[in-house]
Amino acid sequence: MNLSSCTAVAGTNIALVKYWGKRDVALNLPATGSLSLTLKELGTRTTVRFGSHFGPDDRVRLNGQDPDDKTRSRIGAFLDLVRAHAGISARAEVVTENSVPTAAGLASSASGFAALALAASRAAGLILEPAQLSALARRGSGSAARSIFGGFVEMQPGVFSDGTDAVAAPVPEGDGWPVRLVVAVTSEGAKHMGSTEAMDRTARTSPFYAGWLESVPQDLQDARAAIAERDLHRLGTVAERSAMRMHASAMAAAPPILYWTPSTLAAMQTVRGLRDSGVAAYFTIDAGPHVKVLCEAADVPQVEAALSATPGVLRTVVASPGRGARILHETTS
Ligand code: DP6
Repeated sequence: MNLSSCTAVAGTNIALVKYWGKRDVALNLPATGSLSLTLKELGTRTTVRFGSHFGPDDRVRLNGQDPDDKTRSRIGAFLDLVRAHAGISARAEVVTENSVPTAAGLASSASGFAALALAASRAAGLILEPAQLSALARRGSGSAARSIFGGFVEMQPGVFSDGTDAVAAPVPEGDGWPVRLVVAVTSEGAKHMGSTEAMDRTARTSPFYAGWLESVPQDLQDARAAIAERDLHRLGTVAERSAMRMHASAMAAAPPILYWTPSTLAAMQTVRGLRDSGVAAYFTIDAGPHVKVLCEAADVPQVEAALSATPGVLRTVVASPGRGARILHETTS
C-alpha cells in the first residue's frame, strides 16, 4: 500500500433542519436526519502525511498552533480509525487551517473532519466512495458527514447498528438556487459548551427531547418540498422552527443550556423586522451565539446593513452554496 501526502478542502455547512441527539454514541450515529447547506467561503484545508519516522505520536498543527489536548486526542482517535481501516500503523503529520473561528459556533468541526476524512484516507492509500467518506467523516463529527457533499445535503439517521447507512447525500433539486447565508458574528473566539456534550445532556435530562425527536421528520419533509419548489419562505420557516425547537430542548436540560446572548436575540429581532418590511430573511442558530440568516442573493445588502446596525453584532460574513470536499493535490511516495 502506498503512503502519500494529500491536501483536501471542505466547506463548512449550516443545518436548516438540525441534528441534535444520537442513537449511538460510540459510532456517532444521529438520532434523526438533518438537512444542510454546504458553504463556499467558510471551510478547512488540511494536509495529511503518514510516515514511519514520525515517532510515537501524531503531529498536529491547527491554524499554525498546537491544538488543545481535547482537539488533539479527537484528531488522534480519528486517525486511529483511518489506520485501522488501511491496515497501517504509521503516525501522521496533520496541518490544518480553518477560515472560520474554531469552536466559535461557526461549525469548524464539520469542515474540519470532512477535510481530514478525505486527506487522511487518501494519504493512507484508501480510495473511498462518497458514502463511505461520509460515514468516516461522521465518526469525527456528525455534521461533517454532510460536508462531503456540496449544495443542499440531507443526512440519513440510518437503521443499521453498524452505521453504514448513517450517511449524507446531496439534494440535487437545490442545485443552482442562489440563496445566501449572512452570518452575524456576535463574539470572537468565545468558548461555549460543545455540541457533543450539550446534545448528550439534552438527551439525558430534557423533558422536551422526545418532542424534538418527534418533530424532525415533518421538518425534513417540508424542507425537501421547499427546496424542490424553490420556495424560500417555506424553507426559511422550517429552518427557524427547527432551530427554535433544538434550542428549546437544550434550554430545558438540567442544568439548562443557553447559547443565546442579548446580541443573538437582537439579531433575531432584526430578522423579524426585515420580514415585516418585505425582505425574505430567516434565521438559524447553532451551538453558539451567532445568527445565520438565509436570504436571496439580491437582498444581501439590505440584510447585511440591518444586521450590522444591530447592537452586539461585530461583523457579518456572506456565504454562498459551495462544493463538496475535494482533493487539492496529492503526492505518492
Ligand atoms: C447545532 O456535528 O458538532 O451544529 O457529532 O457530537 O460532533 P458531534 O456534533 P456536531 O453537532 C452539530 C450540531 C449543530 C446542528 C447541526 O449542524 O445539524
